[in-house]
Amino acid sequence: MHLVLATEAQKAERDRVTHSAWGSPLTVEQFHQREVRLRAHPWCREGMRTWLLLDDDGRVLASCESFHNDSFLLGPDGEYAAGDSFSIASVFTEESLRGRGHASRMMDLVAAELERASPRGHAAVLFSDVGAPLYRRSGYEETPAWDWNLQPRADQSTRHVDALLKDADVPAALQRMRRPSVPFFLWPSPAQMDWHLERERIYAEMLRRPRPEACGATVGDSTALWAMMARSGELVVLMLDVRCEADATALLDAACAMARKAGLSKVVLWEEPGTMPWVARVPGAARVAREGSLPMVRPLRPGLPAAPDVPFPRALWV
Ligand SMILES: CC(C)(COP(=O)(O)OP(=O)(O)OC[C@H]1O[C@@H](n2cnc3c(N)ncnc32)[C@H](O)[C@@H]1OP(=O)(O)O)[C@@H](O)C(=O)NCCC(=O)NCCS
Repeated sequence: MHLVLATEAQKAERDRVTHSAWGSPLTVEQFHQREVRLRAHPWCREGMRTWLLLDDDGRVLASCESFHNDSFLLGPDGEYAAGDSFSIASVFTEESLRGRGHASRMMDLVAAELERASPRGHAAVLFSDVGAPLYRRSGYEETPAWDWNLQPRADQSTRHVDALLKDADVPAALQRMRRPSVPFFLWPSPAQMDWHLERERIYAEMLRRPRPEACGATVGDSTALWAMMARSGELVVLMLDVRCEADATALLDAACAMARKAGLSKVVLWEEPGTMPWVARVPGAARVAREGSLPMVRPLRPGLPAAPDVPFPRALWV
């Protein structure tokens, strides 16, 4: 049993196999086209890899993907050291091969390989849809995950924000956002932010529905960036940096107004300690335990804080 990087042909083959888990409502061919397009996106070309666990006859037993993230670890000198972290996604074992430890073995081997090949390696992270136990076996630790849900209302508008943002405004918007003051964090690149918008574009085209008119907004020094999840009819807030209650309300009202106009029934924000006090006071915001997408962290070096101390904005999800 050994780990390899997939060839282009093997990636295409996995697209067809993994459609059963993540393809709906796209057809198998549409899902493959979605994957081809995402793999061609600059963020994936920079740092996405498809891993396969093979048996001794070369048969695929399990597969997953890893994506590169920039991360920052506070050193004893009080300075942040930039490093490399990796988000793992699309962990998959075909139904007839499940329950034999293949996914666990692959996760162990991928982490060992990332550890070996990344001199600046900080952490591997993932967002589990199957709870924590499977990934705990491979050294991942979960962090409690809460969402804030808002139902768009007719009385919400964009009138209290300074500007609505278009795709091309995202790099500058990201640049003005405050980074968290914590010992360790991952920070998305402009390319990763655009990868979320590329997903939005793909689903908008394939499901023939309009994109929201804006992908974010600013008010004062506060900023929000969001994307449509067409499959679930939601607008997800990817990044939020708010400085006061009024800014939180103005930005989330704008997000709700955009969602409503695009025919989306819910706005979802991942809870983060830095923004929670303001978001909790936004009228209509409801805190719910998150279903799926449980953030988990596996250190690739000693000295990382425990998983609950690592902030996870939705922008890091893969
Ligand atoms: C999850 C998955 C990758 C596990 O693959 P596998 O090769 O069977 O994994 P392993 O044999 O190493 O481990 C199996 C364990 O995973 C657990 N597991 C599998 N699916 C699960 C689910 N939906 N919810 C909770 N646990 C699950 C099994 O209960 C089993 O636990 P046990 O050994 O204590 O009985 C496989 O079931 C799969 O491809 N599912 C569909 C895609 C998916 O959901 N991927 C995970 C995305 S985060």
